[in-house]
Amino acid sequence: MFRDPDTLVGLGVGTTRITVIVAERDRRAPESAHIIGIGSASSLGIRKGLIVNLEQAVRSVRNALRDAENMVGFQLEEAMVAFNANDVNSVMTSGMVSLRGGPRPVSVNDVERVIEAAQSELTIPGNKVALHTIPVQYSIDGNFGIDDPLGMTGIRLEMELQTITVPMPCIHDVVNCVVKAGIRVEGLVIKPLASALGALTDEEMRVGVISISIGGGTTGLTFYRDGRPIRVSVIPIGGDHITSDLATVLRIPLNRAEELKKKLFSTPEKDLFVVADSRGTPERTIDPNMVLEVIASRLEELFLEYVQAQIPERDPHHFPGGIVLSGGAAKMPGIETLLTDIFKMPVRVASPLDYYQMPPGRNDTSFINATGIIRYILCKERNPYSFIDSPVSHLRLGVRVREPRDVKAPYSQYGSDRPVKTGSGGQSVKNVLEKIKESLKELFL
Ligand SMILES: Nc1ncnc2c1ncn2[C@@H]1O[C@H](COP(=O)(O)OP(=O)(O)O)[C@@H](O)[C@H]1O
Ligand SMILES: [Mg+2]
Repeated sequence: MFRDPDTLVGLGVGTTRITVIVAERDRRAPESAHIIGIGSASSLGIRKGLIVNLEQAVRSVRNALRDAENMVGFQLEEAMVAFNANDVNSVMTSGMVSLRGGPRPVSVNDVERVIEAAQSELTIPGNKVALHTIPVQYSIDGNFGIDDPLGMTGIRLEMELQTITVPMPCIHDVVNCVVKAGIRVEGLVIKPLASALGALTDEEMRVGVISISIGGGTTGLTFYRDGRPIRVSVIPIGGDHITSDLATVLRIPLNRAEELKKKLFSTPEKDLFVVADSRGTPERTIDPNMVLEVIASRLEELFLEYVQAQIPERDPHHFPGGIVLSGGAAKMPGIETLLTDIFKMPVRVASPLDYYQMPPGRNDTSFINATGIIRYILCKERNPYSFIDSPVSHLRLGVRVREPRDVKAPYSQYGSDRPVKTGSGGQSVKNVLEKIKESLKELFL
């Protein structure tokens, strides 16, 4: 079977969906590629971004691969894999080396030495690995803000380095799953980073921006400043928590709650809140205020408690590019208004930068992380020092993970499994509620 050597493949492992994206390198401009196919399949066996049932997850990945292969007409052999992990840590360290015999131009060897110096500042716990090592900025003789120091002259080279560490078992599970599904793993990228690359413009990255990607079980954050990602994190709360809150509080089945959430702003009000349960219980009307309050409470928890706490310097105004939203739950109308009100900064919902190359129905904001994987591959090719990753072969993947993995424990600090209590959130919840109601009214007028 023919396979073009210039085929780039990305595989995104999500709580809700597995996405496979296939792009072809542009022969005349090899630094860019165009999308030729997108495969998609529902995720089974994945909870809050983590694999909890390997067999089901393998089957889901296989379905998505088959779907993409049908679309492009050839077999896929290798993919760059985007995945989520619990306990993702993003740590900044700095390093310094002298340019002996200087002043003289910086060589590749000097760059490697300064990266090593910055890496040696960090102690990584035994159960974790450095997945991404990202040079954030260099300085020569005290002049900061240098992107690429190669060839520049001085006597002292310094750098700031961001290291993203993830638990080894997560990597082991995801690689195992993808390999079992029948494709080689070219490399790994943490999902929030892929989402940011898919959502953000170069200009936004340069001025400073916050990428928030809300999926089913997780919310990914990536902070960019001066063109470089300065922090990445994963919060184990996503759109599915809203669904289960609605189901619990309104005492309706999950599928009804999911429907209600998605239709909330797109159906005429009178039809909206009549819910029959799947067992044939008679229809009943649900108070729209109650629905809004449940949604607002969960969103308030997510943004005011968790997102806010992750913002470097705790001041969103260090990011004049504002907030760029992506992921399935970003399709909830009113969410832009809500966020603008909370953070007092510009907010936009991203559509894929290459949406016109993508098949209809597979080109909305929930496919952003897939397009980001292709951009990631191209970025790394263009500048091998932009993201220095642990090669898959160095990740000790042959090591068997013997200890049973407790999925809940690392997340328990968030307390996100309990349904959010409504009506007890005080003034701020009310403000948020008012905002949602206002945007709701605007939509119906
Ligand atoms: N139109 C919509 N309105 C509100 N939420 C939505 C809508 N479409 C999808 N979602 C939610 O988005 C989440 C899935 O996000 P997505 O990015 O597609 O998948 P993944 O979890 O695999 O990252 C689910 O919680 C789903 O309910
Ligand atoms: Mg997603």
